[in-house]
Amino acid sequence: MHATTLETPTAPTTVLAADTMKAIVQDRYGSSEVLELRNVDKPAIGDHDVLVRVCAAAVNPGDSAIMSGLPYIARPAALYGLRRPKNPIRGTDVAGHVEAVGAGVTRFRPGDEVFGWCRGAFAEYASASEYGLALKPSNISFEQAAALPMAGSVALQALRDHGKVQAGQRILINGASGGIGTFAVQIAKSLGADVTGVCSTPNVDLVRSIGADHVIDYAHEDFTRQGEHYDFILDNAANTPLSSLRRVLTPAGMLVPNGGGFANRWFASAGRLMSAMVSFRFVSQRLGRFLVAKKHEDLTILKDLVEAGELTPVIGRTYPLDETPQAMDYVATGHARGKVVISV
Ligand SMILES: NC(=O)c1ccc[n+]([C@@H]2O[C@H](COP(=O)([O-])OP(=O)(O)OC[C@H]3O[C@@H](n4cnc5c(N)ncnc54)[C@H](OP(=O)(O)O)[C@@H]3O)[C@@H](O)[C@H]2O)c1
Repeated sequence: MHATTLETPTAPTTVLAADTMKAIVQDRYGSSEVLELRNVDKPAIGDHDVLVRVCAAAVNPGDSAIMSGLPYIARPAALYGLRRPKNPIRGTDVAGHVEAVGAGVTRFRPGDEVFGWCRGAFAEYASASEYGLALKPSNISFEQAAALPMAGSVALQALRDHGKVQAGQRILINGASGGIGTFAVQIAKSLGADVTGVCSTPNVDLVRSIGADHVIDYAHEDFTRQGEHYDFILDNAANTPLSSLRRVLTPAGMLVPNGGGFANRWFASAGRLMSAMVSFRFVSQRLGRFLVAKKHEDLTILKDLVEAGELTPVIGRTYPLDETPQAMDYVATGHARGKVVISV
């Protein structure tokens, strides 16, 4: 950020104070047209916060949800706001340099390269709790590091905490080529599982290249009609009837119903989840419904997996900050390939 020097006392000029930054801001709910590139104040930080100079930020389907204010039922919740988002800047996943730290911060100092969870990543600077950050893996780019927090944590928590996936188990990832899917395939392989990935024709080679033992192209085959059974299914697509998913689970198998769009603008996928909760009460199979937990410890585990060569973030597309609306539109198609990242 450069401050413009006045040549003469009367020259028209725009002086950018050192405490302002460029950010993608929204003042109302809506489609990506509500997003504007503007100069705003840099975020203030509290005693246990870190100010991050953003190098890269990842886009998640949740960013589109909050941008649109969907589902309506969520608006009274903490992250939303009745008429407009409480925080006008979207983006939760960040990678960058520590610019400043609060008085109580012990884990980081200015200059450190970090990644993790923040408030408002689609900007030149973002504030984050020190507990939501970790040192960036040394062997990947800032763009790849920014891809990790949300999608990597969902994949890790689904497989490790809910599925308790063991070596030799048969795992199916529906939606294996997107943000969460590309992490889930690799993490399941690192746990020793036999992994089947389901994706569209153009992504078959990608899913095989990240380690899937079997790849099912959903345009040509239906994984629920092949006579195979799985110990764990992570469903990122929510396009298959629950009864069909139960049919291909082993008797003690688990379904994590992770996906769901906003066709129902009031309740999103809540209806499907309620049906799942009811139907799984009467069978031996298990349901692993969950919301991602933002844990420092899991960022550290993801970093270790990356540095051990067992996990490599897949970046499908990178956009500059001023093209964040286009990046949001692409993710909203539901067919993103790997992660979509904003390079700042
Ligand atoms: N539980 C949580 O706390 C939590 C947190 C974050 C996100 N989520 C949810 O998790 C879901 C996935 O997120 P994401 O970041 O991975 O999204 P994403 O990057 O947009 O990926 C979506 C994936 O779905 C696949 N897909 C679309 N139609 C399909 C079909 N008919 N059959 C099989 N796969 C299909 C796409 O593959 P193709 O392009 O090959 O079709 C793509 O790989 C979203 O619904 C998101 O809201 C949950």
